[in-house]
Amino acid sequence: MAKAATEKKPVVKKKTEPNKKALVKDKSKAKYYFTAKNSVKVVQDRSGPKANKRVKYLVDTLVEHLHAFIKEARPTMDEWMYGINYLTRTGHLSTDWRQEFILLSDVLGISMLVETLNHDKMSGETESTVLGPFYVANAPQYHNGANICLDGKGVPILVYGKVTDSRGQIIPGATLDVWQANEDGFYDVQQKGVQPDMNLRGVFTSDNKGRYSFRSAYPRHYPIPYDGSVGDMLKALDRNPNRPAHLHFMVSAPGYEKLVTHIFTPDCPWLKDDAVFGVKESLIGDFRMVDDAKRSAELGFPNPFYEVEWNIVLSKA
Ligand code: BEZ
Ligand code: FE
Repeated sequence: MAKAATEKKPVVKKKTEPNKKALVKDKSKAKYYFTAKNSVKVVQDRSGPKANKRVKYLVDTLVEHLHAFIKEARPTMDEWMYGINYLTRTGHLSTDWRQEFILLSDVLGISMLVETLNHDKMSGETESTVLGPFYVANAPQYHNGANICLDGKGVPILVYGKVTDSRGQIIPGATLDVWQANEDGFYDVQQKGVQPDMNLRGVFTSDNKGRYSFRSAYPRHYPIPYDGSVGDMLKALDRNPNRPAHLHFMVSAPGYEKLVTHIFTPDCPWLKDDAVFGVKESLIGDFRMVDDAKRSAELGFPNPFYEVEWNIVLSKA
């Protein structure tokens, strides 16, 4: 009896019914699991309600385009890892003195695209172009007409013009920061001890008629720094590292947008093959050879010399 009392009832295994509610829940969740098809949405949907709107827009758009690139180009795992190492090396090469990431943006045409879309000149204002890595703040201030070629090397040039707004109103007191490479294609900062410090750079101010002028030397083309990760890419793509010969200008005046631009010389063999895509047709200067003994003597130049008139038109801020 006692035995009977302790006898276990046979356990009837219940058929486990699927929990319909749980299933529905899982199904709704399924779309949040990553697949190649829904990859963009899954990543974008991770942002929360407090996301910064502009950051979210930029990152969402970047994710959309990067995923499309990966789906189209289908990099192998090794190629993906190469890309990670490449970007890591680009970061390690960047210091206060060298910005390999900006250079990467330059050679991919990104700097010029951002620059061009942000400075859409519709009313005849001077077009802008890349700043480049060789600008030095606090260059010497000079009176108009001064010679910034401190070592006297190269073919002399006279650069002059006026600064106006798009309606032709003169702008007195504008600051013109200019810098350039020498006749061998080097900036002073690349040749410490070879060129005088602050060679071929200076700050000028437009006079009460909006005019400026300075003397200098005819610049030469030069290669962008290509001993790093950017150079490796150019070599792999069989691309030229040269920038066509130019003078840099940074022009500012109260009430106007700061203008960062160049004048290109018209005879440079690299004009149509700028490594950073900085050439715009309107920025090619009309450098004229002047054969005039009196004028060259007045300027302290040998005869003949070159001159270029370069008028600058600023946009209202
Ligand atoms: C430059 O003109 O100084 C420059 C611009 C972009 C990359 C490298 C150099
Ligand atoms: Fe330059």
